[in-house]
Amino acid sequence: RRKFNVGLLTTAFLSGLAPKVLYANSREDWDNLPIPPVQKNESTKKGYVKYTINVQKGFTEFFEGVRVPTLGYNGNILGPTLRAKKGDIVEIVVNNKLDEETTVHWHGIIVPGEMDGGPHQRILPGKQWTAKFIVDQQAATVWYHPHGIGTTASQVYWGLGGLFILDDEVSENLNIPNEYGIDDIPIIIQDKRFLNDGRLVYLTSMRDIMFGMLGNTVLVNGAIEPKKTVPRGIVRFRLLNASNARSYLLKFDKQIPIFLIATDGGFIEKPIEINKIFLSPGERIEILADFSSINEGDIVSLEDGNYKFLKFKIGKKGKNYEIPPRLANFNKITKDESFKTRDFVLSGLGHMVNINGKQFDINRIDEIVEIGTTEIWRVSANMGMHRMMINNNGRNYVIHNFHAHGVLFQVLSRNGKPPALHERGWKDTIALRDGDTVELIMKFKKKGIFMYHCHILEHEDNGMMGQFLVKEDKSKGDLV
Ligand code: C2O
Ligand code: CU
Ligand code: CU
Repeated sequence: RRKFNVGLLTTAFLSGLAPKVLYANSREDWDNLPIPPVQKNESTKKGYVKYTINVQKGFTEFFEGVRVPTLGYNGNILGPTLRAKKGDIVEIVVNNKLDEETTVHWHGIIVPGEMDGGPHQRILPGKQWTAKFIVDQQAATVWYHPHGIGTTASQVYWGLGGLFILDDEVSENLNIPNEYGIDDIPIIIQDKRFLNDGRLVYLTSMRDIMFGMLGNTVLVNGAIEPKKTVPRGIVRFRLLNASNARSYLLKFDKQIPIFLIATDGGFIEKPIEINKIFLSPGERIEILADFSSINEGDIVSLEDGNYKFLKFKIGKKGKNYEIPPRLANFNKITKDESFKTRDFVLSGLGHMVNINGKQFDINRIDEIVEIGTTEIWRVSANMGMHRMMINNNGRNYVIHNFHAHGVLFQVLSRNGKPPALHERGWKDTIALRDGDTVELIMKFKKKGIFMYHCHILEHEDNGMMGQFLVKEDKSKGDLV
């Protein structure tokens, strides 16, 4: 077993995390970690999954006695966990009950462009949109969130986002924890900024616009610093960084074995023992943590730096699991399968953010790709004249990241070297520090118009996004 060395260790620099004066709601209670409910399938047809999602306004009491307005899917904040299996036909009816337009994007689900829920699939206030697609990929923990032009960051910040769990034969047959909310625990990590009176605020400084919104409090599943009892044994965690801009370098505060089992796009080949978990916005990771060496009643915290934002109390012995020697088949894509290399340079901050010198224009297709082909996308972050500013602020960490829709990729290299172990699985989002270059290899399987962008949501909204068209075949002409 190898321990992996997180290349970005020094980069998860925390700032602005201040002690709070108020008490988070029900702070005395154990098991106040909200577990997003699994949405009920409205269809009884085999292999058919139907969900209805209402995008709505609500209120959340983050601190005792202080109710603040939030947004949610079928609730006050965040959304239900949607589930589907490989091969299923999925139909999702979305009702927009907000007074502003929205979209619902399936981040990490590989669907044709018109079902992707990006900026082209606008849902006006009071209107409905139905997405219909077939799950055509391996088991993975993915998510859904709004993706309107210039409104993604605020809508996610005020509460919109949810988990989507994809299963397949492999995930159903592996002997790993799979009791949702008991030993298979969703962990949606977000940071938000609260004033001393408990009010939630957004974009209060120039820095928020430059680097993206950083909060002063970390929430899990919509609750501040919650707690949960877990079985004394092996527990599976599905971690999603749904923060607007903050990256995390997570670890447990007690020495326990943790194993990486899945990255953004699903299982890796075999578990890898790790001691830190790095997540930039939009990224997911699945781990198995083994609490069996901890005494019943003891507390283990998940921490970022030394900020313990999620506490686990070790309960009774759980089911007997072992770390499986193998997880799934993993077919490495090799460099020689690539048909073309494209370069993407991410630069600027604030309103100057751009990719290859351009800002998002919904009427412009930036790249045209042929379906079925494999390409290498060489993505780099270059701060240029802004570099001084980052260094001056001591904030030389993940400055941008890169996410592509409609495709999963493998990382061939980071700065000419093999990627870190936690970046060797299927990915759809990748972190970049100033000066980093990553080579991503991907095969295009679905046609239509897709986005690529920085997943620091204020950067995305400020135009750090482009569009690529996946065409059926040259001879058949454009799809648009
Ligand atoms: Cu998670 Cu284009 O987004
Ligand atoms: Cu996406
Ligand atoms: Cu960015």
